[in-house]
Amino acid sequence: MKLTLASAGESHGPALVAVVGGLPAGLELDREAIDADLRRRQQGYGRSPRQQIERDQVEVLAGLRHGRTLGTPLALVVRNADHENWAWGMSPWPPAGEPSGKGTKPVTLPRPGHADLAGALKYGHDDVRNALERASARHTAVHVAAGAVAKALLAAVGISVHGSAADEDALRAAIDVARAERDTVGGIVEVRADGVPPGLGSYASKDERLDARLAAALMGIQAVKGVEIGDGFALASLRGSEAHDEIRPDRRRDTNRAGGIEAGVSNGEQIVARAAMKPLPTLMKPLASVDLATGEAGEALVERSDVAAVEALAVVAEAAVAWELAVAAREKFGGDSLVDFAAAHRAYIERIQWA
Ligand SMILES: Cc1cc2nc3c(=O)[nH]c(=O)nc-3n(C[C@H](O)[C@H](O)[C@H](O)COP(=O)(O)O)c2cc1C
Repeated sequence: MKLTLASAGESHGPALVAVVGGLPAGLELDREAIDADLRRRQQGYGRSPRQQIERDQVEVLAGLRHGRTLGTPLALVVRNADHENWAWGMSPWPPAGEPSGKGTKPVTLPRPGHADLAGALKYGHDDVRNALERASARHTAVHVAAGAVAKALLAAVGISVHGSAADEDALRAAIDVARAERDTVGGIVEVRADGVPPGLGSYASKDERLDARLAAALMGIQAVKGVEIGDGFALASLRGSEAHDEIRPDRRRDTNRAGGIEAGVSNGEQIVARAAMKPLPTLMKPLASVDLATGEAGEALVERSDVAAVEALAVVAEAAVAWELAVAAREKFGGDSLVDFAAAHRAYIERIQWA
């Protein structure tokens, strides 16, 4: 059974949409729980005033009846409230009437560190906005909604996932300084998953490795430039005798340097993944750039922007890890209904006698 996710949506377009395929029938979804994750993504120290405009809420257009999945594709929508200020500029169809609101003038000054230059060159856009609107992390909202669905599925087999920002006090202090200096900062987030049984993922091929999938999922989030599983980079400078987690007679470990994954397979310990976020590329004190319309030197686009989004990344990363664990759990336990899925999980836990 393959769990699939397709999403679409521009930052200031009408809405963000996702279609989730491969869910079992009979999974109960809690609208409040999904909306709570959407709110968590919007919060966090250092975010821009955009977050006061948006009140993200999930809408479901298909695949759900009276709060339970039907085993058919689940269609999720998160509307962009800000679109009303961009209705002309981001109109999907040729806009009627005089230009009004935001996004009416072409952007020609690409920001270093953003999609602007590479995107404009690759797709042949004269207006950099045609690249940056989708590259923007705004559409992580609908991925967080899909992640909340994945967490509901995982909860049915006793798995929970939680993301948090590292060193929040130091981070907040750094954000205050950066804001005053019209600069931006990055940071590190950590995601932990509990209750994952041994046996999710596989060493059979590289695209089945759970560690590879988690790394791709986390690196797939905007501004993430490094990922580690367990002690990751620190393991490189240790001896083998210091780096591996010895196995007790009950098959559990006293240490978890592997971060719960060996040979691309979960080993029953807590899954630990970290992601490093670079400082955000939109600076209120712009960096040097080129005007793509004239070829003259210039300063990069200044647009309303977050000073930092590390706490938001923790929520997005949590959703990404939950999604990959749900994909692996669907592969392992299958089932057209939640009852079948949970029964396969129970039978497996009994076979391996995992406490
Ligand atoms: C939750 C979140 C919020 C973000 N907010 C902003 C922002 O306000 N301004 C900005 O310049 N970049 C922001 N970014 C980062 C850019 O989207 C990202 O740097 C850009 O798309 C280029 O991609 P890359 O950094 O992965 O190379 C955000 C990223 C995330 C995950």
